[in-house]
Amino acid sequence: MNEELQRMREEALKKIDNATLEQLNELRVQYLGKKGVLKSLMTQMKTLTPEERPVFGQTVNALRDAIQEALGGRTAQLNELARRARMAAETIDVTLPAKKQKIGHAHPNSLALDEVERIFVGMGYEVVEGPEIELDEYNFTKLNIPANHPAKDEQDTFWINDKFLLRTQTSSVQAHIMERGRLPIRMIAPGRVYRSDEVDATHSPSFHQIEGLVVDKNITFADLKGTLATFAQQLFGPDTKVKFRPHHFPFTEPSAEMDVSCFKCGGKGCRFCKGSGWIEILGCGVVHPRVFEMCGIDPEQYTGFAFGVGLERIALLKYEIDDMRLLYENDERFLRQF
Ligand code: DAH
Repeated sequence: MNEELQRMREEALKKIDNATLEQLNELRVQYLGKKGVLKSLMTQMKTLTPEERPVFGQTVNALRDAIQEALGGRTAQLNELARRARMAAETIDVTLPAKKQKIGHAHPNSLALDEVERIFVGMGYEVVEGPEIELDEYNFTKLNIPANHPAKDEQDTFWINDKFLLRTQTSSVQAHIMERGRLPIRMIAPGRVYRSDEVDATHSPSFHQIEGLVVDKNITFADLKGTLATFAQQLFGPDTKVKFRPHHFPFTEPSAEMDVSCFKCGGKGCRFCKGSGWIEILGCGVVHPRVFEMCGIDPEQYTGFAFGVGLERIALLKYEIDDMRLLYENDERFLRQF
């Protein structure tokens, strides 16, 4: 009997030593439970002689103590192993370099616009906006482009119906600001314009312009020249020269196009300026009295000048980009360079 108990003890302790947490529970029930091995051993007491009983009882008690202790020890051991594994898995290496956050880049159009706004705001101009869906009246009529005027066809218009259109030029904002009736005016109006053009390296059905308008007493073409020369020098460098060529726009008289000396070759002529030394940059002129009349300003008292410049054109020149389509494709490899 004693030998059997001894064998049983070894077997139990061995099982406990190799058990998982789950198996420990089963073993506890198996040995110490209400219908467990130890309970059934105790029921065997009555088959023993009175002399054998105390020894047997002590041995079984000792066995119970041993099993209980082993269960407790193994449980603690497994819990400790689990804790260590968790700690190891959760280790943070504080010496690892941090993950780099990707920071976006401003679009070349935004950079160019920021630059233009900075220059004009520095000269006391207000930055205003007007609607992209526009009335025929503001895009054309009030700018001295009446019905059937050929200029209406020059700028291939996206018509919404016979009154509304997608503005073809930011010049439409001029009419809104003049009608506001607050004088004098010194404003630039950047924004998107639309023309039904085919896409190529220099055209897009949607692009951006920056309109400029100054209205005050005694404004002359000399003010226009001085202002735009300052603008060109701030934008392209202090050595930049400007040249005005006569042109025609319905809303200005006289009208001109302004060229800047090529900032790449300094005017000697290169591939960039197609050998001429000059680069065309904007349209401008003295506000036509008829425009003032249609926008409620007295042309006897007030004069003014206006200009319109393509934002993409400035971005392409300034950042030496040779295809306008790059500005709209949003290819990250391109945008990352700015
Ligand atoms: N609106 C003209 C265009 O889109 C550009 C322009 C020319 C604007 C002369 C002006 C100006 O204000 O005076 O071609």
